[in-house]
Amino acid sequence: MSRELNVPGLAYGGDYNPEQWPEEVWAEDVRLMGEAGVNMVSVNIFSWALLEPSEGVYDFARLDRVLDLLHAHGIAADLATPTAAPPAWFFRAYPDALPVDSGGRRLSYGSRQTFCPSSPAYREAALRIARVLGERYADHPAVVMWHVHNEYGCHNAECYCDTSAQAFRRWLRERYGDDLAALNHAWGTAFWSQWYYDWDEILPPRATGAVPNPTHRLDWRRFCSDELLALCKAERAVLAEAAPALPATTNFMVMYNFDALDYWRWAPELDVVSNDHYLRSTDPESEIDIAMSGDVVRSLAGGRPWLLMEHSTGAVNWQPVNRAKGPGELRRNALAHVARGADGIAYFQWRAAKAGAEQWHSAMLPHAGTDSVIWRDVVQLGTDLRALAEVRGAVGTAETAIVWDWDARWALELPSQPSEEVRYLDLVRSWYEPLWRAGVAVDFVRPDADLSAYRLVLAPSLYLVDDAGAANLTGFAQRGGTLAVGFHSGAVDENCHVRLGGYPGAFRETLGVRTDELFPLLPGESVGLSGGVGEDRGRDGGGSGTGSVWSERVRLAGAEAVASYTNGPLTGVPAVTRQGHGTGAAWYLATLPDPDTLAALLERIREEAGVRPVAEGVPEGIEAVRRRGADADYLFLIDHGGVGADLPVAADSVELLTGERLTAGTVTVPPGGVAVVREVVAR
Ligand code: GAL
Repeated sequence: MSRELNVPGLAYGGDYNPEQWPEEVWAEDVRLMGEAGVNMVSVNIFSWALLEPSEGVYDFARLDRVLDLLHAHGIAADLATPTAAPPAWFFRAYPDALPVDSGGRRLSYGSRQTFCPSSPAYREAALRIARVLGERYADHPAVVMWHVHNEYGCHNAECYCDTSAQAFRRWLRERYGDDLAALNHAWGTAFWSQWYYDWDEILPPRATGAVPNPTHRLDWRRFCSDELLALCKAERAVLAEAAPALPATTNFMVMYNFDALDYWRWAPELDVVSNDHYLRSTDPESEIDIAMSGDVVRSLAGGRPWLLMEHSTGAVNWQPVNRAKGPGELRRNALAHVARGADGIAYFQWRAAKAGAEQWHSAMLPHAGTDSVIWRDVVQLGTDLRALAEVRGAVGTAETAIVWDWDARWALELPSQPSEEVRYLDLVRSWYEPLWRAGVAVDFVRPDADLSAYRLVLAPSLYLVDDAGAANLTGFAQRGGTLAVGFHSGAVDENCHVRLGGYPGAFRETLGVRTDELFPLLPGESVGLSGGVGEDRGRDGGGSGTGSVWSERVRLAGAEAVASYTNGPLTGVPAVTRQGHGTGAAWYLATLPDPDTLAALLERIREEAGVRPVAEGVPEGIEAVRRRGADADYLFLIDHGGVGADLPVAADSVELLTGERLTAGTVTVPPGGVAVVREVVAR
């Protein structure tokens, strides 16, 4: 049963940690929450030590008062189980529950998430407090959702201790049907004398002298994700018993630097998908990262709306240098998440901490208090979100899908690959960027997803693909869809075994090419590309571009060459190819074209596929995103260029942030600002 979040309009708030403050401060908190339009906060995330001062002894008085206070002020609570931060007493009693790193070093408590995911003592203690909490607050009128744990795997995705080793063996026995020969085959253990004769010989991939077995390492990553998922499901089940009608979420981390969990496997276990997203200070175009993350999260949610559970009002505190946000950036960031399908916007955290590890992290209410730019922006955002209440429930509109797969990501980045320069996220983002700039809506899909809703499917990087995924993608192209595949895809099966007979293995026939040798390029090295790739749009205007990162000796086997290398050992060899299939086509990009060339190429491919941007005539610098409601479309126009524009809109439209009726048929997007246009569409 999937349960809905019962908060009117769009949710707005943040992590609220009143236990860090004297109670006198709480009254000001709720008053200011009212001023900012906050309607939901996440509470209790790190309160375990205060709730359970010693094993089995509880003190809920403070949390009772917090929830009552919130309720009295009309603020809903997303009530967290505090299991991300077990207390010191727990580790003194159960020192084996502390995690061990790959070098065999047992870590200490004193921060958070310092537990081994496979520890029976941890599991028991976590489920016990989840149960007590669930039973106590199931009917509390403030509580609208369970927030299970916090960012599973943020700090402890991998534990290499003996307990984890046992759990890993259990997981492997299940995966290989208790058949050790099947495991030996899958892992290719005839290599380097790694054959196992007894399950107990198998260890986590602990630090070792030479390159580890790739399939061992890949199964380990699958296991680590599943092990944490088992904890999440167990907590969720305990809470569902206590309060069958309340929805549950856990905050995902779909953002650039976190890849520990296979969220395709997690999302179906939750009623509400929520995500945390932070900007990377060194990324000059963070807005693209926000968009891509939002598209992935919406896709994880099956296209349904989701919640942005955490982001920052300004600087974070965990990067080498923590950049503050510029004028209007808080608003653009938050509304960009709404544009990508978020039905709620929340921050880490409500009030900036005075003490503790995150005292230099921004918050909704900064150290400076209400006489601050951040506070004024926070209040303005509350007004904006109320004005956008009707957007709730509206969905995305994509005709293009990008294949996204954690198995492929993990496998690509295993050690001892042809090139360490090939990084999953960089490749996906390289392909996503030109689509973002062109205002093309994108969903993300698993390799085995139902593709019938799409005209165009892109697989920028799919090193590993199983037979079912490969058949699904090639079938899409053979049935008349347009498929584009990036280099080094289809190379190995689900066990990391090379698909023999030439690259790109699983996609060779559909792409109509065959490669006999890979020629990865050195950092900074590039090769010239000729042919019709960029037409007149290549970097130097002459149709020529360059490729970097990768090249390979492709031979045509049915496909036509669209571009070829102009220098180096592969001069004259095809670099970009196209194989027609009825009304569709299958494209292969055997290198990473420079950004302009890639943009031109993807434009040609999507035009061929008949994919249009979500709005016509939108100038560069303005991000256009559409959400589709029951009887209207919501067109979000976000100006990142700082110039603004007047843009045509459908008759009888309304700009929701100002409430202005757009009788003249144009909307003004202010410089650095946002416009959200309700366009009534006949359905
Ligand atoms: C998240 C975490 C929050 C806070 C935040 C700071 O990873 O869930 O508790 O630490 O980062 O950016």
